[in-house]
Amino acid sequence: MKKTSAWEWSAEEIRRFGYEVVDEITEQLMRLPTTPVFRPFPPDLAERYLNEPLPTEGAPPDEILAAFKEDIAPYPFGNGHPRFYGWVNSPPAVIGIFAEALAAAMNPSCAGGNHAAIYVERQVLNWFKQIVGFPRDSMGLLVSGGSMAALTALTVARHAKCGFDIRLKGLQSSPRRLTIYKTAEGHGCHQKATELLGIGTENLKIIAHDSAFKMIPAELDHAIERDPREGNIPIAVIASVGTVNTGAIDPLEEIADVCARRNVWLHIDGAYGAPAILSSKYGPALSALKRADSISVDPHKWLYVPVEAGLVLVKDAELMRSAFSLVPPYLRTDGSTLGVGGLPWFSEYGFQQTRGFRALKVWMALKHHGLAGYRRAIDADIMLAEHLAKSIGASPDLELCSPQSLSIVCFRFAPARLKENPEALEPLNNAILERIQMSGDAFLSSTTLNGNFWLRACVVNPGARLEYMDELVELVRKTGLQCEM
Ligand SMILES: Cc1ncc(COP(=O)(O)O)c(C=O)c1O
Repeated sequence: MKKTSAWEWSAEEIRRFGYEVVDEITEQLMRLPTTPVFRPFPPDLAERYLNEPLPTEGAPPDEILAAFKEDIAPYPFGNGHPRFYGWVNSPPAVIGIFAEALAAAMNPSCAGGNHAAIYVERQVLNWFKQIVGFPRDSMGLLVSGGSMAALTALTVARHAKCGFDIRLKGLQSSPRRLTIYKTAEGHGCHQKATELLGIGTENLKIIAHDSAFKMIPAELDHAIERDPREGNIPIAVIASVGTVNTGAIDPLEEIADVCARRNVWLHIDGAYGAPAILSSKYGPALSALKRADSISVDPHKWLYVPVEAGLVLVKDAELMRSAFSLVPPYLRTDGSTLGVGGLPWFSEYGFQQTRGFRALKVWMALKHHGLAGYRRAIDADIMLAEHLAKSIGASPDLELCSPQSLSIVCFRFAPARLKENPEALEPLNNAILERIQMSGDAFLSSTTLNGNFWLRACVVNPGARLEYMDELVELVRKTGLQCEM
């Protein structure tokens, strides 16, 4: 039958093009280990992409797929590669790739309603409640990532703890300052959230950490005790389970005790590290996750779900609802669990109205790998990072930033001959970093700790192997020598 419009695809066309896409996905995944980890987007292509005119007439899908294969697929961010150790970016679980397509084919809005996607998201949330030890009647949402999870949780915290009707009166009605607490090692998204919530960076109090980059609970206690005397209203503490720089885990039990005693909200940022509750090494320490008022966990980090997949849990479901719920007449349903209404709508628990079917990729990945599969993968990442740290410790020209934690290793090229010249270390390691990134042999990122520049490897990669860790050590040493010359 002749097609009358580009919006109409026959079954044959869908199948033929779909199989082409599947072939392309397969090739991409299979060629990964033999391609460079990273190649920058070539300047001439960048120029073209920044200036290409808006298409006025449509093009056939094969032409568009050819452009994708030629211009786009060869220049990824790099995190699918087994030798990628930058920031906190994992490769995608293969089943999650297909889940994205299946979810898009259904294309539901998960604002609410009585359709399957809502129950999949509810199930995913229930599973995460079990993983972190939250009660079944707590609530949560799938969101874009750790930043949105933090903003959502801190909005509830502000609503719960400010002492007035913030939704009605706004912050401008308060003569007293609201305060939030974290260490300097807490992720930058909390500062953004504090700013967006109108609390202001000045009122984000930085609590001292110890030499292992963990919050000092006594310092937190002093700050929260002092603030009301100065007219401030302490709202929330942000504790980290796996700081982005070093993977440090704040002392959760002591911090939870302070929060309980001082009636302050405890938000735990487990965006990166919360899945380590499944590991044999960190499981017991992370059992205190259950003491939080809210938690962020990013399935798109250490659960290898394709980006974007963040998750926030709030223990008191009614508080979460009262912080966000706004049901204008055009959204009102009869509340029946049989009709369109279904369970209370997710849009009453967060900022977004129309919401994507993010839950499907998390649900499929959890079902496919199971807790046992995740335990093995996370244990393996931790083991590889520990092996890397040990090899670095044993290399006379490398310096390990200790203590090493979770699956992050910070280190630098620091041969003894540069002891007298420590200011040379930063430009030297910066040069090493750039050369390694551009070589395509591996990918590291960097950070600054106590004023010093460090190379940083984060292993959240089921494709990584023990020998790659040894090769990384050799690569850094070899590159260090070349950069010194
Ligand atoms: C510890 C931690 N918290 C929060 C975030 C922010 O998460 P996202 O980038 O998913 O918004 C990150 C991102 O790396 C992180 O590592």
